[in-house]
Amino acid sequence: MRAAILTSGGDAPGMNACIRAVVRGCLAKDIDIFGVRQGYEGLLEGDIFRMDVSSVADIIHRGGTILRTARSERFMTNEGLREASAVLEKFGIEALVVIGGNGSLTGAMELSEVSGVRVFGLPGTIDNDLAYTEYSIGFDTAVNTVVNAIGNIRDTSSSLGRTTVIEVMGRNCGDIALYAGLAGGAETVIVPEAPYDIDEICRNIIAGVNRGKLHSIILKAEGIGLSTQALAEILQLKTGCETKTVILGYIQRGGSPTARDRVLASRLGFRAAELIEQGAEGCAVGIRGEKIIEVPFEEALAMKKEVPLRFLEICRTLL
Ligand code: F6P
Repeated sequence: MRAAILTSGGDAPGMNACIRAVVRGCLAKDIDIFGVRQGYEGLLEGDIFRMDVSSVADIIHRGGTILRTARSERFMTNEGLREASAVLEKFGIEALVVIGGNGSLTGAMELSEVSGVRVFGLPGTIDNDLAYTEYSIGFDTAVNTVVNAIGNIRDTSSSLGRTTVIEVMGRNCGDIALYAGLAGGAETVIVPEAPYDIDEICRNIIAGVNRGKLHSIILKAEGIGLSTQALAEILQLKTGCETKTVILGYIQRGGSPTARDRVLASRLGFRAAELIEQGAEGCAVGIRGEKIIEVPFEEALAMKKEVPLRFLEICRTLL
């Protein structure tokens, strides 16, 4: 049997560990495994090569993706899906593993409908915005990167007595901000999923100054609909405290994956290899509690993501 693997969309730390698990898992089950370079773009180009045990040597600890990745608009058209199906047929590929986020798994579902190839979607995104799985590969590493950054920024904010607004990624999902805010002791966390009150934030900053607090960290998710600069200007104007901004940006997407991400990636990748061998229907694979789960794509992608808004209350109480 022939299977293939690709990574798609934004990269996430742990994708390499997952590729390693899929490749070595398949080889151990006598499945021929092929790598597709640059996601769905590479699939359309037929940029496909055979992988062996050594293809994935020395990558478990590396960020990024050895298969490279891309965001492909061409693929998400009827024409693109048909072309991709033809390429898979030409290479004799019966099963495909796609590691990526929301858009990539939507593409995986559509490809499985059009091609008849069994497609398995594994969650690989720092955003953690896929509702069917509790965690996605890369999220834990991104949260740890943000927590380290908050620590560094807190040091200098305290020295200078400043307020700092830190913007984190996550698209329309507040999970990175919520988890990193709680772990990093941010005074205020602002996420797209909950309303916020600028006057209340200002009152908290002023109350902090009045009781001798040396800094305030405002952790803001990128998707709240107000720019970081605009927010900082409002806070400075209303509180009279010098307010700086830091947009963490792509540093959140790189770096060596945490142990937690490597374990998740290895478990999901290995399960995908098992499902391929067992002749299972294509589906989205994820984790709930300590259990690896399989969910039909349609159901998985229709689920509504919920973020732990209770973290906001904890942050507010502990500030
Ligand atoms: O989906 C991952 C992510 O890093 C988001 O958090 C962010 O909004 C987006 O990708 C950035 O995308 P790009 O790499 O296209 O700039």
